[in-house]
Amino acid sequence: MKNVIELKNLTKVYQDIETVNLKKITVQEGEIYGFLGPNGAGKTTTMKMILSLISPTNGEILVNEKNITQNKNYLSQIGSMIEEPSYYPNLTGYENLLVFQKMLGFDKNNIWPTLELVGLAEEKNRKKIVKEYSLGMKQRLALAFALVKQPKILLLDEPTNGLDPAGIHEIRELIVKLSKQNGLTVFISSHILSEIEHIADRVGIINHGRLIYEGDIDAIQSNTWIEIGGDFSKDNIVHTLSMINKVQILEASASQIKLANMSNETLADLVTYLIRNNYRIFRVTREKESLEDIFLSLTKED
Ligand SMILES: Nc1ncnc2c1ncn2[C@@H]1O[C@H](COP(=O)(O)OP(=O)(O)O)[C@@H](O)[C@H]1O
Ligand SMILES: [Mg+2]
Repeated sequence: MKNVIELKNLTKVYQDIETVNLKKITVQEGEIYGFLGPNGAGKTTTMKMILSLISPTNGEILVNEKNITQNKNYLSQIGSMIEEPSYYPNLTGYENLLVFQKMLGFDKNNIWPTLELVGLAEEKNRKKIVKEYSLGMKQRLALAFALVKQPKILLLDEPTNGLDPAGIHEIRELIVKLSKQNGLTVFISSHILSEIEHIADRVGIINHGRLIYEGDIDAIQSNTWIEIGGDFSKDNIVHTLSMINKVQILEASASQIKLANMSNETLADLVTYLIRNNYRIFRVTREKESLEDIFLSLTKED
């Protein structure tokens, strides 16, 4: 698998503070890489360094296996959305992209297909001026700006910020389409795991500029346990449970007990035992810590 973006010992120091310190991050060809971290973690700073908008204090950035300092042309392969571009409010989407085209000089014939790709080319939208765009349409136009050069890599910094749930859904679908149908490599940041978890192939989680997890979302180890709901008000349930082998009590109340994970066999025996001892059972479930909880605990302030 080819590494499209590679960061090596990349640091950025602002006023003696190491805002970014990333030993190694690799983004592979064709994948959607979710770059996650709370506000202030260093996501935008990292992306700006990849785009040469600011220079690193130390370290290396490779794009398509070449150091960007030795490859001046690399930016033509990256479409980016770091901050919302400033539009001409009284021009249509097409006209806005045309102004951009005159500045950058890419093929003018890219414009309509790009507008089509982001869903802004239908009859009802063609003549609309940007002033009349919804927030979601503006965000899609921002994506069109990133895409109109027909890049192979997309760098998106919190592209769903400020959007309503429908707008978030729209942008997400579009990003998946770009990656899976058009083969783009996508590096996308967010401070909300749930926004990324269903679309990212892999994630990197950063906090205080440092990588604290990188890999498949599915491989993030989450705690599991067993919950039994019932009427445990009669005599001492903790004492009763402590008589049983292999059962470790995490919490107990009159209506629910929480136990360390166990095999199906042990669980079946336990439930049988409780029923035989006249406890009334309403519910038996295996529970799993949510990814959002793990993300929050990984990135919480100590
Ligand atoms: N130009 C700058 N000068 C000084 N500090 C900065 C500058 N840009 C960003 N920072 C600081 O670097 C840290 C990371 O910021 P940023 O990369 O914007 O985080 P994120 O995008 O993850 O929210 C923050 O503490 C921010 O205040
Ligand atoms: Mg940011």
